Amino acid sequence: MWEGSFVRSLRLLAGFDPLLVALHCPGAVAGGLPVGSPRRGGLSPPPRLWTWNGHDYEVVDRDVEPAGWAQLLYAGPYESTVTQIAGGLPTSGLSCESVVADMLDSLVLEPGHTTLELGTATGRNARLLAAQAGPGRVVSVEYDSQLAAAATANLEVTGGGVKVRVGDGNVGAPEDGPYDRVISTYAVETVPWAWVEQTRPGGRIVMPWGRLGHVALTVAADGQSAHGWVQGLATFMPSRGAEGPLWEQVRDGHPTAVETVFGLDLAALHADHHAVFALRVIRPDIQVRTAAREHGVTAWVHDGRSSWALVEYDGRGPAVAQQGGPRCLADELTSGWREWQQAGAPELWDFGMTRTPHTQYMWAHDPETGPRWGRREPKAGDLAA
Ligand SMILES: C[S@@+](CC[C@H](N)C(=O)[O-])C[C@H]1O[C@@H](n2cnc3c(N)ncnc32)[C@H](O)[C@@H]1O
Repeated sequence: MWEGSFVRSLRLLAGFDPLLVALHCPGAVAGGLPVGSPRRGGLSPPPRLWTWNGHDYEVVDRDVEPAGWAQLLYAGPYESTVTQIAGGLPTSGLSCESVVADMLDSLVLEPGHTTLELGTATGRNARLLAAQAGPGRVVSVEYDSQLAAAATANLEVTGGGVKVRVGDGNVGAPEDGPYDRVISTYAVETVPWAWVEQTRPGGRIVMPWGRLGHVALTVAADGQSAHGWVQGLATFMPSRGAEGPLWEQVRDGHPTAVETVFGLDLAALHADHHAVFALRVIRPDIQVRTAAREHGVTAWVHDGRSSWALVEYDGRGPAVAQQGGPRCLADELTSGWREWQQAGAPELWDFGMTRTPHTQYMWAHDPETGPRWGRREPKAGDLAA
């Protein structure tokens, strides 16, 4: 699933209390669920939803399976709902309530704030933003013109006050800026500089960072940088056009070359969200997905281009890695883990991000003096990727 499982585990670990959602989103919650949520019946819900059956996404139509459809729509606070599929992958959805609330909390949105949302989808989050910022303060950009039209209609019948624009959210909406708050509900690896430029000094930008984690940045007084802390472990669908190849596709091009004993405790890695996030920071071009099996754990690892690893632990003895391609990704994971340990094993909340016009990097503990990783030098015109 593209959103939720990490968040769910983390929330449970952190003793998450749905009541806190209400407290963190004053004015946005009534009757136990956010105002305007299709789950509460505010916005008109899409008649067609999709569910993952273990192999692919399956259509669930309101007219054909009303009970199954309602179950997906009124999913629990840790479940997202897929509302659009293209090429077999989700391209739009209703984010899970816990993540929506967490990101609104991180945004520190106050009445009167001019707000830019990227990724309108059904308009549910835009309605929540407008409930807090006030009418005429929210602009939302959606890539898909049909979704934008449906969201516009939805928002009109639930009170209006939100301007929906069709376009690429990575260029923002300069004609209505500058903004006090910017929030993206699709994931980017590199924060588009346009978002920083269109945010007032001292304003906040909240966005899902690529494959894992969401970050809140504050724009500096001179507008020439933005930095801030990792806020949680949300996983969102990527910006349209930025999807890379899947693990299977990378593996198919490169037959197995080496089989080795894996140097880490795979079960511990699977269970430790802090370690998984740290590896995402320290080895940013390596994608790792782990899943528990009946008696063990499997990890699928790839770099999106040339190399892959399949690591399996069957509950007895050490885990074994098969690796293919020019890189030995299982070994790179092991060295990344050691680097994390040597840095004092910073937790998820100890990491942060800095964006300047010419670079973006992650750090731990302190933006100036802490260790840094994953420096990217976005090229001119490189908006999101
Ligand atoms: C997870 S959904 C948004 C969830 C939503 N805001 C809610 O209220 O639950 C992500 C949306 O972002 C849109 N999107 C993806 N890439 C985009 C881009 N580059 N510009 C604008 N919209 C984009 C998708 O079409 C999709 O509707």
